[in-house]
Amino acid sequence: MGHGRDFIDQYRIIRLIRSGATCQIFEAIDGNTNQKVALKVLTAQARQSKTERGYLQHEFNVASKLSHDNVIEVFGVRTSGNDPYLSLEFGEQLNLKQRLRLDKDLMQHRADVIIEQSASGLDHLHDKKWVHCDIKPDNFLVDDQGRTKLIDFALCQPSRTGFLAKLGFGKPKSVAGTRSYMSPEQIRRRPLDIRSDVYSLGCMYFEVVTGKLPFTGNSPEQLLNKHLRAKAPPANTLNKNVTQEFSDLVEDMLAKKKEKRPNNLTVVLRNLSSMRVFRNKPLHPDQIEAARDDM
Ligand SMILES: Nc1ncnc2c1ncn2[C@@H]1O[C@H](COP(=O)(O)OP(=O)(O)O)[C@@H](O)[C@H]1O
Ligand SMILES: [Mg+2]
Repeated sequence: MGHGRDFIDQYRIIRLIRSGATCQIFEAIDGNTNQKVALKVLTAQARQSKTERGYLQHEFNVASKLSHDNVIEVFGVRTSGNDPYLSLEFGEQLNLKQRLRLDKDLMQHRADVIIEQSASGLDHLHDKKWVHCDIKPDNFLVDDQGRTKLIDFALCQPSRTGFLAKLGFGKPKSVAGTRSYMSPEQIRRRPLDIRSDVYSLGCMYFEVVTGKLPFTGNSPEQLLNKHLRAKAPPANTLNKNVTQEFSDLVEDMLAKKKEKRPNNLTVVLRNLSSMRVFRNKPLHPDQIEAARDDM
């Protein structure tokens, strides 16, 4: 299955979109409906692993109960031969990580929309009592208008709050997720609740408005140590166009102690609705171009 084949069941493969360590994402046409879809297929190596196959089934179980404009729709999980794969709503555009690199000016221009919609999508997941556990720009798809969709539910964990968390249920087995966006409690392998995602989203907001990560290190140990102990610079010291209010919000989201962070994304969204991200709205690339021509 995969690369060398033109079809997986009724799906005609158009092209490979992304090839990762465990998954390949294909653009395909559903022969039954003529609809364009994305297929998430395990790599040949990952297919051997029961754990990886479990992740894919888990991703379907989580996503099948979600329904929101800012969350990618997962249509189904199927098995071709012995190989499970997911069919998903096709997201035309690149992920936010790629777009921050390739379309920096456009992403700045759309930053307020991306910031709002990424929180809305994630808030919906939290309403369904899941923690995403891998919030980072790679796991949001963004189009030219800034319309944003959350993807990749493979690492979702049930949100453990109160009583269950104190007993230590829901303790993650290993440090999963990407280190640059990982909350202190995730690094320490403590039970996670939605405030861990609030932290990771804060790291992503920081990157969206400054172009830099809040913490970097010369080694994984150094990076993890900074997440545990170092204070990130205020976002508006790196980009003077960021408002004090937004800079403060990001700082709150990055609090080391989860009790000090906004409790949930509904609170973040309410704050966002009463503030501006930038003092002056960054220009659209076409406007930048026009201004250059006028000189
Ligand atoms: N539905 C989709 N439509 C278009 N591109 C997608 C879609 N889902 C994922 N991708 C692309 O494939 C990449 C990897 O997908 P993801 O689900 O995050 O898998 P992984 O577990 O390998 O991180 C994404 O970062 C994105 O660029
Ligand atoms: Mg991913």
